[in-house]
Amino acid sequence: MTWIDAVRRRTPRSLFPLARTLYHRLVAPFECAAVAAADRLRHRTYDGRVLPPAALRFKVRGTPSGDVFARVGREGARQIDEALRRGGRPLGDYRSILDFGCGCGGTLPWVRDLAPRAALSGTDIDADAIAWCRAHLTDVAVSTNGALPPLPYPDASFDLVYALSVFTHLDEAPQRQWLAELRRVVAPGGACVVTLHGPETATSLSSADRQLLTDHGFVFVRTNATRGLFPDWYQNAYHQPWYVRETFAEYFDVGTYVPRGLFGHQDIVVLTRRPG
Ligand SMILES: C[S@@+](CC[C@H](N)C(=O)[O-])C[C@H]1O[C@@H](n2cnc3c(N)ncnc32)[C@H](O)[C@@H]1O
Repeated sequence: MTWIDAVRRRTPRSLFPLARTLYHRLVAPFECAAVAAADRLRHRTYDGRVLPPAALRFKVRGTPSGDVFARVGREGARQIDEALRRGGRPLGDYRSILDFGCGCGGTLPWVRDLAPRAALSGTDIDADAIAWCRAHLTDVAVSTNGALPPLPYPDASFDLVYALSVFTHLDEAPQRQWLAELRRVVAPGGACVVTLHGPETATSLSSADRQLLTDHGFVFVRTNATRGLFPDWYQNAYHQPWYVRETFAEYFDVGTYVPRGLFGHQDIVVLTRRPG
């Protein structure tokens, strides 16, 4: 069990955001330094892979644990594959795949296992994470992108784009801009898989925010828990399935919807770009 899991179990729901912020500010820097020192001593690999440094792992997983990083990456790739299979086309059938918001390669090595013949690309706003990917994931073409579109790819470059835990952090206006941009880079007939915080994950929100989520279908909540790690616009977004079916449908066909499909936590949604 990680520190943050321990905090989650022992803290009343309404106090968890505060506890998480205190953990991020007071405990995590020491935990990251200790785990980094242990990594250096042990030269540990996971499934034979060298992992990114503890500080980069912490940014994408909220814990520096190498075990959590590897387990989440492997399971995340498997769960994307499972959602795609429900639509009849497994991950291994795609030839050109983009991980939008790839961080320090949280799922890319495990996506590679499931799609050995695909050309893999990854992009993120985080220049340090991308520098690590460029040096260590040599079979992946990586790039950095800005907070808002465009991406550095021609139209229809990919037959699959996936974004794990990215739309969970964007406000409504940038969300729409990114949906339009992802539609541009997905080829007609291709797919875009996104994960979202569904209504079941909103238990620690204030009653006003929960009401907004019920009425409007979307709520963007500022916790500032990741201040100093991510830009100020990176906060927490929550989506109702009916909102996704209405709003995302302006950009893609909304297909398979797996409530809590990612680790029993985030919803997985498979979007497809209409052929032609
Ligand atoms: C919770 S982490 C998940 C990382 C990765 N998808 C994974 O599952 O390991 C969220 C990632 O999204 C990236 N991100 C957020 N907004 C982005 C944007 N507009 N463009 C590209 N990357 C973005 C962050 O920098 C961060 O690496």
